[in-house]
Amino acid sequence: MHRIAIIPGDGVGPEVVSQARKVLDVICDRDPAVELALDEFGWGTDYYLAAGEMMPEDGLAQLADYDAILFGAVGSPRVPDHVTLRQLLFRIRRGFDLYINLRPVRLLPGIRSPLADVGPADVDMLFVREGTEGEYAGLGDRIYRGTDRDVALQTALFSRHGVGRAVRWAFELARREGRSVTSVSKGNALQYSGVLWDEVFAEVSAEYPDVESRKLLVDAAAMFMVMDPRRFGVVVASNLYADILTDLGAAIMGGMGLAPSANLNPERRFPSLFEPIHGSAPDIAGESVANPVGSIWSTALMLEHLGHGDWAAAVQRAIQAAVASPATRTVDLGGSASTQEAGDAIIALLDRAPDNGQPRAGSGAGPALEARR
Ligand code: NAI
Ligand code: MG
Repeated sequence: MHRIAIIPGDGVGPEVVSQARKVLDVICDRDPAVELALDEFGWGTDYYLAAGEMMPEDGLAQLADYDAILFGAVGSPRVPDHVTLRQLLFRIRRGFDLYINLRPVRLLPGIRSPLADVGPADVDMLFVREGTEGEYAGLGDRIYRGTDRDVALQTALFSRHGVGRAVRWAFELARREGRSVTSVSKGNALQYSGVLWDEVFAEVSAEYPDVESRKLLVDAAAMFMVMDPRRFGVVVASNLYADILTDLGAAIMGGMGLAPSANLNPERRFPSLFEPIHGSAPDIAGESVANPVGSIWSTALMLEHLGHGDWAAAVQRAIQAAVASPATRTVDLGGSASTQEAGDAIIALLDRAPDNGQPRAGSGAGPALEARR
């Protein structure tokens, strides 16, 4: 039995998570070996407006005994974004030491990338985003506020420990998957943090002589993602750079609604958190047009993490089949399906091939990540 905490959050969060939950319910019905207890937590902006906080004081303690967290999105025009994001999602990422944010960027067959002449074989990257430090460490100050001398200090935190464990995890992933590792940093301009990152990357890469490694400045990485996406296998980058580059990646793979992520605590001391990379999309919330694929794909990553690699692969195959046809994909992909219809279509296509592989130990990155096979 696995216990799953579900935090739908704001905007399209509840709309897409309800589809992911449907997928989990169907799998539990069909397979007695998958036993999940799902508990929903109504934390988010409405909770904040009533209680004055995004989650209760003891929120982390309430979540700590769960095996995984399924998260929608947070953010509302009614509350400043730095309050909603930092008091809920960032608190969980930091509090549960979710230092690996794995973000597959993959063009699925039948989806048109905005890049000309690229197909599924050209866009297949695994971003490893450091999830606990960097520019999002929350350090800084604001002085002379309200005067014309207003000053903001936002301090980026880079530790040898923090960079090292993210880079090492990226190399382990690359070794398992037979891919290269590209480090993205900015050591030419950032003589402290960028240089530390580059030094640690060079040291760790020396431990993996069998894995091809390269490094790029972040500006060049953005350019090459558009001009030559084939060159990227595993990509490891700091919190801010990978945040930005994976929205670019989502665009390249066909839209924000598709892109999944896993926020992992690889040691499993705490529950890992699975969420689409998109936000609460207030511009389309409440219209039943949000694409549920990013959330359902994230759920596949969760099933993989929980040891149900066969179902993770089955969900992945069903997503791939559903998005290939306009009738079963949402309007952002040029389709005609509502959020619910897109979710139902994935469920209708869900069938587990009995011989489809065993879960891979402890990776959090197995069949659900496989591509071109
Ligand atoms: P966003 O990701 O919510 O939306 C960007 C664009 O992508 C919008 O045009 C939106 O309609 C579209 N989009 C997003 N998800 C989609 C889906 N499932 N299907 C189809 N289209 C989709 O980013 P934005 O607009 O910058 O931020 C909106 C709010 O979300 C803000 O409050 C922000 O702070 C918050 N946010 C929260 C995140 C989280 O909870 N992890 C991540 C990013 C933003
Ligand atoms: Mg983002």
